[in-house]
Amino acid sequence: MKKMTMMILAAGFMASSAAMAAGDAAAGKTLYDASCASCHGMQAQGQGMFPKLAGMAAADTKSTLVAFKAGDMATLNKRNLGGANYAIMAPNAAGLSEQDMDNLAAYVATLK
Ligand code: HEC
Repeated sequence: MKKMTMMILAAGFMASSAAMAAGDAAAGKTLYDASCASCHGMQAQGQGMFPKLAGMAAADTKSTLVAFKAGDMATLNKRNLGGANYAIMAPNAAGLSEQDMDNLAAYVATLK
């Protein structure tokens, strides 16, 4: 059982690192403009309760989106997320594929 879990974890890790290299910033921009800009701002500059995303390291954006999608409060709480505003963000991550997350992460990393 333990061995099986390790194998699944290892496979997941390899899949996610492979996908991470495959982030397509142009595709990320299209999705960002349509689905994220209304809250996080056209340049991902943030506004009010909506955090700035511009310049976030791709790995951080990706893992945070994964955590929102999974409802992984432990990970979110470590980043001062997952509080009262969690319910505003969570639905936006729910429909994202791994590839979407990689593309979005690649895009916001290109912004300042
Ligand atoms: C309806 C408004 C809204 C939309 C649309 C939205 N977000 Fe968010 N987002 C938020 C809020 C509010 C938070 C803070 C959540 C919390 O505190 O738990 C947040 C937090 C985040 C964070 C964590 C930032 C940090 O400081 O670590 C990321 C990453 C993120 N959003 C990405 C996205 C992406 C990518 C999209 C588009 C697919 C998106 N958001 C769409 C409202 C939104």
